[in-house]
Amino acid sequence: MITSRLPGFYKLSLDERRRVAADALGVSIDELEVALEGGGLSVASADKTIENVIGTYALPLALALNVKVNGRDYLVPMAVEEPSVVAAASAAARSVRDGGGFFAVADAPVMIAQIELDQVPEVHEAVRAVMTHERRLRELADAAVPGLVARGGGARHLEMRLLDGSATNAWMVVHVHLDCRDAMGANLANTVAEALAPELERLTGGRVGLRILSNLCDTRRVRAVCRVPPASLVMGERTGEEVRDGIVRASRFAERDPYRAATHNKGIMNGIDPVVIATGNDWRAVEAGAHAWAARTGHYSPLATWSVVGAETRDLSGVLAPPAQHGWLQGKIELPIALGIVGGTLRVHGGAKAALALTGVTSAQELAMLACSVGLASNLAALRALATVGIQEGHMALHARSVASAAGAQESEVERVAAIIHGRGWVTLDAATQALRELRAETDAAE
Ligand code: MEV
Repeated sequence: MITSRLPGFYKLSLDERRRVAADALGVSIDELEVALEGGGLSVASADKTIENVIGTYALPLALALNVKVNGRDYLVPMAVEEPSVVAAASAAARSVRDGGGFFAVADAPVMIAQIELDQVPEVHEAVRAVMTHERRLRELADAAVPGLVARGGGARHLEMRLLDGSATNAWMVVHVHLDCRDAMGANLANTVAEALAPELERLTGGRVGLRILSNLCDTRRVRAVCRVPPASLVMGERTGEEVRDGIVRASRFAERDPYRAATHNKGIMNGIDPVVIATGNDWRAVEAGAHAWAARTGHYSPLATWSVVGAETRDLSGVLAPPAQHGWLQGKIELPIALGIVGGTLRVHGGAKAALALTGVTSAQELAMLACSVGLASNLAALRALATVGIQEGHMALHARSVASAAGAQESEVERVAAIIHGRGWVTLDAATQALRELRAETDAAE
């Protein structure tokens, strides 16, 4: 059983951190390095993956720590270019651990395949025909994806929606609910949509239009909650209760104002996207689904909200979390997340395979619960900073390192240059260049 509680991990050298990751994977450092070589994807493989390839594009890959979901510890791989995202998620997850960690639940991995039908001459007849033949249509769908059916997945249910028009000339869409098991399911859903289209055209008398999955996979939602004792929220002079109330107020702001909700949700995706990317999944699909879900009522809303336990009851159905104590901060999140742990990029990307193996997840649902929990951690980190010292304080401390590096500081100089420019409150390339000059002059004088 691994622990993700690794104090001082950030102070280790890159090689020492790799040793921790290799040990967690049960491989040698050499094997891990081969897997991560060149960002985990050779140019030759890239050339077979997409068109017109001229190279590969790398991102930093890091581990977020302290994450516990449903009583289990995870090392969380995150691929992201933004400084402070990984540190902030790890720090927030540390506070959440004090309240027992995250508790999450995922719907069955059901995607929606859409078949558009136009000029349907008789709506009621069309609905009756499709419903009468639902079983046969599901069998037809299953026949198009036999591998999925062998893995326990397949078509579960058909649904018809009226988009527009009259009862005698309607624009409709058929939804096929397809259980994709451990696949993300885009190709499977598209295959099923195309396979069923001719029969649906025949049964309804309409004219088939688009046949494609929906990225608003609201049949594949993930929910998580976490609780934090106020004592774990104390920041400097501020009491835990003050910090807690600031976070709740920030949540209300996002609930009221779509301008704020967009930024609030961006902070959540700061946690989710890097896990999605690191594990070789389609982050555009996850983004599309998340924001469509956030806007489902017509009012763009926060994906996660915060309240005080006891002050109001904000239940999240299906999540089995132990009762929390009165006065604790409670966060909850819900969104559709379609992730896979088989197929797609994972076939060719050594880095994604290693990252997925590091999580130790055994199902797509477990990976979705993990990503969702990291999203909640990122949101907590952002709101805690915003409601207290402001985002620039922590952000700039870490940003200073990349600015120092961009100014030409060598590995042995980066931390010192970063400390100087952060201390001066002037985190710019010019400031870093000047600090580096001063530091080298001091070193020369001392030698
Ligand atoms: C920055 O990447 C994310 C934040 O803007 C999120 C937020 O405002 O909640 C800090």
